[in-house]
Amino acid sequence: MKDYYIKDLTDRIGEEVEMLGWAYRKRRHGKLVFIVIRDSTGIIQASVKRENVDEESFEEAKTCDIEASVYVKGELKEDSRAPGGLELSCKEFKIVSPSPDFPIQEDTGPEVLLDIRHMTLRSIDSRMAMRAKMGVIQGARDFFEKKGFTEVYAPIFVGVAGEGGGTLFSLDYFGRKAYLSQTAQLHLEAAIFQFENVYSLTPSFRAEKSRTRRHLTEFYHLEAEMAWCEEDENERIEEELVTHICNFVGERYAEELRHFGQDPKYYLDMEPKFERITYDEAISILQSKGVGIEFGSDFGFEEEKVLTEDFEHPFFVKNFPKGIKSFYMKQKGDRAVCADLEAPGGYGEIIGGSQREDDLNLLVERLLREGEKLENYEWYLDLRRYGSVPHSGFGLGIERLLRWILKLEHIRDCCLFPRTPARIYP
Ligand code: 4AD
Ligand code: MG
Repeated sequence: MKDYYIKDLTDRIGEEVEMLGWAYRKRRHGKLVFIVIRDSTGIIQASVKRENVDEESFEEAKTCDIEASVYVKGELKEDSRAPGGLELSCKEFKIVSPSPDFPIQEDTGPEVLLDIRHMTLRSIDSRMAMRAKMGVIQGARDFFEKKGFTEVYAPIFVGVAGEGGGTLFSLDYFGRKAYLSQTAQLHLEAAIFQFENVYSLTPSFRAEKSRTRRHLTEFYHLEAEMAWCEEDENERIEEELVTHICNFVGERYAEELRHFGQDPKYYLDMEPKFERITYDEAISILQSKGVGIEFGSDFGFEEEKVLTEDFEHPFFVKNFPKGIKSFYMKQKGDRAVCADLEAPGGYGEIIGGSQREDDLNLLVERLLREGEKLENYEWYLDLRRYGSVPHSGFGLGIERLLRWILKLEHIRDCCLFPRTPARIYP
């Protein structure tokens, strides 16, 4: 590993330094070659002047390709004209390994960029987005640790649908049918009888037919489940979590936010009190904006885009009709005891949460009505047979939250290797 990185160079102005990295950009003016070098922490301009280096170094600099790995040695100077304000005046320049015909050009189209994602992930946008993603996850873990939650690890191979058969990926499990998990929820519900308040971060899988800017087939799902917890407290935890993550990213990932044109202040100033509207109010807002939606329909990508466009902060939509929500949610009259958290500005749902049905008979009735085989859910029903408690929980899509925080065009830009219906390569 390297002893120091480009970000550490600001302390070493005037010294002779060495650096390893990749050629990011190159310009030549006769006997002077400028090469911008990139590493995991930033960029620095190296100037290779014929009179300061031996012939071999100058030849290597002249022929160096974009994305070749390189070694440089030289004196570090301040230079306001250079990107980042520093310039390395080279005494030695070596190509570690060449990169002939690097496949990305200025005019490379978006589909090709995705075909060669293993190369495009070298971009600065990609570094900034992936580091902010790490910040979101660090902020979440920090929150749950402070709240005294236990982190648990749920299985990916599962035997039943958590979120309905429509988006299940099935597979052959030694002759039996199994699925890739859509949610850790059912297993977290079992875990609360031991740990009371738990969370998990697990990839979730959805065979989504919807090809939108916010749907992935594989996403990082942050889920929490709390014993002795009803809907109000569930929402409170959700707004505190999202606020904590935003504050955390605003404080520690300001450079990443600014890179995407976002003001860290918005995130630093966020307060854990989000507006709540009802499903009925949401329908009225949509109808008043000319969206042809009837009471009883669920919101898709287009509806949420319109619904959220005029809000400035995240907000909850509550009291959805029970018919459009999952079997495991507690019900009050014709409504499910649930809330979705919506990101403003057209971004839409980032959290789905609810109080869970803790009554055995009601749960059995609903599973039968939905045509499910009870034998598949016996273990889950046991949770209501042995010491059932009121409990609630929620799931937050990490890439959905990140997309909103950074205001990225497409959710695939929130993934190192995005998985969408059309894409499983590279
Ligand atoms: O609303 P969902 O389907 O809720 C559940 O899965 C619950 N069982 C969670 C729980 O209570 N433990 O999904 C939760 C969140 C959504 O709000 C969204 O942020 C994200 O997961 N999500 C997706 N993100 C990207 N691509 C997809 N196809 C997603 N589907 C859901
Ligand atoms: Mg949902």
